[in-house]
Amino acid sequence: MGSVMSRAQFYDTIGATYTLTRRTEPRIAAQVWAALGDAATVLNVGAGTGSYEPSDRHVLAVEPSAVMRSQRPAGAASCVAADAERLPFKDQSFDAAMAFATIHHWRDPIAGLREMRRVARRVVVFTHDTTDAGWLRRFWLTRDYLPEVADLLVGRPSITELARGIGARTEPVLIPWDCRDGFFEAHWRRPAAYLDENVRRGVSVWAKVGPEAEQRAVRSLRNDLASGRWAERNRDLLDLDAAELGLRLLIV
Ligand SMILES: C[S@@+](CC[C@H](N)C(=O)[O-])C[C@H]1O[C@@H](n2cnc3c(N)ncnc32)[C@H](O)[C@@H]1O
Repeated sequence: MGSVMSRAQFYDTIGATYTLTRRTEPRIAAQVWAALGDAATVLNVGAGTGSYEPSDRHVLAVEPSAVMRSQRPAGAASCVAADAERLPFKDQSFDAAMAFATIHHWRDPIAGLREMRRVARRVVVFTHDTTDAGWLRRFWLTRDYLPEVADLLVGRPSITELARGIGARTEPVLIPWDCRDGFFEAHWRRPAAYLDENVRRGVSVWAKVGPEAEQRAVRSLRNDLASGRWAERNRDLLDLDAAELGLRLLIV
């Protein structure tokens, strides 16, 4: 993501088909909601179309992109247009603040996390661990087809820095093999899904690496699926019900 386009403008450009593939995955939601503890009031930052918002608590959403806000379903929590880095709320206004699959888009993630900490007593963030030298190699898609993902991480804070910034602990999040939320890693055991244009359009990584890398990766994956090479290389995944691919909750 370059400096020419703000983060909100980016989702105003790529977000129009988001709800085709992105929705709450109930098993991951259960883990997020457990981490929210007994919070009765919850701020959802970078809320997008409203996935993972608990229906049994009072939720207020924050989302800078008008295109994303316009896709929130009828009856979803009220939504304020703002950036995480400047939350328009007084100190300690909420029992908890949550952020799901969004902090990698923030201009200054640590500033945004500190804002969440300022306005809420508890913070729960779903993100990924890129500190492990083997991270890129954990997932066959980045390892064998899209190494350009490494370039997207340059200059971004590690999970250790993020956690330290707000004194958080981390908790692993396993991805079920039939994960219903189509985020980047979701189809780890269903590789043919990545050949589907709609699946790719629901994930910002593909837009960020650009069309050349995208087309090359898709071509190469298609060939390997047809020849049996993918199955041969990833035989160990086929019996797994859930995978550890570096996804984490940060919890304070
Ligand atoms: C991958 S979507 C996730 C949306 C939602 N949390 C979900 O799980 O479906 C990332 C969201 O972060 C939002 N975003 C980008 N920059 C932001 C910022 N600085 N502050 C808050 N949200 C931001 C985008 O507009 C987008 O809606």
